[in-house]
Amino acid sequence: MSHDPHAPVLDFAGTTPYEDYVHADVLTHLQHPLSDDPGEMAFLVTTQVMELWFTVIVHEWQTAASRLRDDDLDGALAALTRSTYEMAALNASWEPLAHLTPAQFNSYRAALGEGSGFQSAMYRQMEFLLGEKSASMLVPHRGTPRVHAELEKALHEPSLYDEALHWLARRGEAVPKAVLDRDLSTRYEPDAGVEAVWVRVYEGAAGPEALRLGEALTEVAELVWRWRNDHLVATRRAMGAKTGTGGSAGVSWLEKRAAKPVFPELWTARSHV
Ligand code: HEM
Repeated sequence: MSHDPHAPVLDFAGTTPYEDYVHADVLTHLQHPLSDDPGEMAFLVTTQVMELWFTVIVHEWQTAASRLRDDDLDGALAALTRSTYEMAALNASWEPLAHLTPAQFNSYRAALGEGSGFQSAMYRQMEFLLGEKSASMLVPHRGTPRVHAELEKALHEPSLYDEALHWLARRGEAVPKAVLDRDLSTRYEPDAGVEAVWVRVYEGAAGPEALRLGEALTEVAELVWRWRNDHLVATRRAMGAKTGTGGSAGVSWLEKRAAKPVFPELWTARSHV
């Protein structure tokens, strides 16, 4: 049989080059539903898809943090911009889970046991990069050495926000020394001096580059808030005020988590411009 020169190649000695690069065979065989409910597959795959997006977003934010450290603002902004497109795709992937009735969710909920997204290590990496550090969030991962070591490392590294504040300080902005020297392993707490810096930035007094950074971080903060709210609403639809599989009070606990602003002074500064 003669080969049509315009058709794709069919014959490979081993696995396809696509497989070698994408590992689609591995990726598409990682779905092991625990119930007989046909709806569980969408729940499982949506969760896996979100884990993959978390992974890319962590990569972008780590890139942005290291570019800021090197005073490469363009490199940092490029990574932050990519992350916002990825976050839009992440947030759009709530759709398959946004319309569950309690009965539909119940049909596989018991199979999840104590499993909960609360135990997502990659989500914790995202939070740590946002400055939402907490040593106790490492505890669930003691049994997974690689993940635990990655989180431990991230706990002690500057967050994306820390790097942004250091970048502003190097450009002569009056970021308080106590903030610059803060204990990196603890949650970033809002600071009046940092708020004053962002007020200057938003008044245009710190130059156009600082304003671009402020807006890129605001975009990230808003999209994180949107993810948390979409999660909250999906949860309320699927299970009302029941307790979570992870042992929390459920929706009321998630409400408190979603109410905490990401990069707090970027929001409060706006009242003073
Ligand atoms: C309808 C589906 C879902 C419901 C009903 C739900 C419910 C909950 C509840 C009640 C919690 C609080 C902790 C607990 O007690 O379990 C939680 C936490 C969490 N869930 Fe979901 N969830 C859903 C889908 C997802 C998906 C698809 C992801 C993606 C990975 C996810 C990621 C998370 C994360 C990261 C947390 C921890 C939030 C934090 O620490 O602030 N959830 N979820």
